[in-house]
Amino acid sequence: MSMNTVGRPTRPEAAAPTSIAVVSLTGGRGLLQDEPLLFELGGWTKTGVDLPADAFGADLDASDLGDLVRADPIGLPGLSEPEAVRHYVRLSQKNHAIDLALYPLGSCTMKHNPRLNEKMARLAGFADLHPLQPASSTQGALQLMDRLAHWLKTLTGMPAVALSPKAGAHGELCGLLAIKAAHEAAGQGERRRVLAPSSAHGTNPATAAFVGYSVQEIAQTADGRVDLADLAAKLGPDVACIMVTNPNTCGLFERDILEIARLTHAAGAYFYCDGANFNAIVGRVRPGDLGVDAMHINLHKTFSTPHGGGGPGAGPVVLSAALAPFAPIHWLTHGADGLSLTEDAIGDAAQAFGRLSAFHGQMGMYVRAYAYMRSHGADGLRQVAEDAVLNANYIKVRLSDVMTPAFPAGPCMHEALFDDAWLEGTGVTTLDFAKAMIDEGFHPMTMYFPLVVHGAMLIEPTETESKRELDRFCDALRTLAQAATSGDVERFKAAPRLAPLRRLDETLAARKPRLAWRPEPTAVAPAPWAAE
Ligand SMILES: Cc1ncc(COP(=O)(O)O)c(C=O)c1O
Repeated sequence: MSMNTVGRPTRPEAAAPTSIAVVSLTGGRGLLQDEPLLFELGGWTKTGVDLPADAFGADLDASDLGDLVRADPIGLPGLSEPEAVRHYVRLSQKNHAIDLALYPLGSCTMKHNPRLNEKMARLAGFADLHPLQPASSTQGALQLMDRLAHWLKTLTGMPAVALSPKAGAHGELCGLLAIKAAHEAAGQGERRRVLAPSSAHGTNPATAAFVGYSVQEIAQTADGRVDLADLAAKLGPDVACIMVTNPNTCGLFERDILEIARLTHAAGAYFYCDGANFNAIVGRVRPGDLGVDAMHINLHKTFSTPHGGGGPGAGPVVLSAALAPFAPIHWLTHGADGLSLTEDAIGDAAQAFGRLSAFHGQMGMYVRAYAYMRSHGADGLRQVAEDAVLNANYIKVRLSDVMTPAFPAGPCMHEALFDDAWLEGTGVTTLDFAKAMIDEGFHPMTMYFPLVVHGAMLIEPTETESKRELDRFCDALRTLAQAATSGDVERFKAAPRLAPLRRLDETLAARKPRLAWRPEPTAVAPAPWAAE
């Protein structure tokens, strides 16, 4: 595929090797329009704002600006309001969304965002808060944070929680900085090593390295769990903590988790648990009972807040009694005047950490997560975990005779993991298969992760998919799998045929990314005032 002058892949008109027509004069498909960049659409002499006729006259005389008068065009496109609205609505139609269809990205947990959450988050008392308002005027919001904290502590069986981290990875940073501060306070600052299993999410080693630790891999057993013997051999007086995900990224419960915790503590290290998969066990298992010292909870996974394209999210971290004094400020404290966010008079230990993020974290996410908890209740949350696991096992069983489950023995937790052994010799790869799913109206599953499984396909349906939708998905995947193994390679190599854009040149995109749009020299007309 070639790239046009602004780095966008060209349309595949002539190259389309399929019987399905993809050609149109405009590049559109049915009522789905082709969409240029905003900068390609916009002229320089137009604006959606109705400025007074004398904007550059009596009221605002450009000469008043002296040297500050802009000599060159500002470089922003001018569009009328309908043009701008249409641009963004068209773009939104090109995105896949959980509101459109199943979104089976394993590990990412793309679950339905209940509208009730949205309604609550938009209440003016929450939505219009300013972080610098005096605490006397924000008691309701502080109470919501306090109750959210209470639910998180109760569900995890942990005594403390830091709410301010803004994502799972940020939560990892919070947990590891607390662990580092605790070791330093105990005169154990020489502990410089972190152990993480080979199946760990990339953020685990990245976070440990960011904090300044060296990272060592723990081997995995043939059945997809932490290798206890390898863990025991690698633990030592220089290990600060282990980072273990449970359920792990293979979609399996670490059945030796108690022994993992025991070995870790016996070596004087802390147990950081990656709680990204807490949605599989919420209401069933309390990580505090397993010996966990710190664990982040991705509110956007377990408690249904929107992912929001990498933010704004929230990744609160629950902490054991040993780590609680090392939580970041602010601390929510109860006093005679009600609740307040305190950052002083909290002792030397907390000062060791300091502040993790500006202000108090993502209030909108707190409201959504709390609304989700309250609308489900404790029994409902337990049901969420059970249904998520049931749905994943349904998919595993329905696909196991046409695809190869990575760990066939026994049930999985909330995600079904397949490898690419069943594609061997077909000429079709995991990537090709995923692209063909797009033509069937399904977002691909997570591919090539976890790294320990060859050609991994990690499918997470979540709890809200109906049996009808799961069957539609499984039927489509079964048909595709049969096409792949019966030699219909072309169908897969040509996929996606029906997407507005087809395969990107990923090598070119990785090697020569164009991250900023630059105007073509002739495309920019001078602003009217610049010529004066
Ligand atoms: C197992 C695991 N750990 C950590 C993370 C990082 O979470 P976040 O994307 O919220 O930073 C993810 C995200 O997908 C994950 O799946």
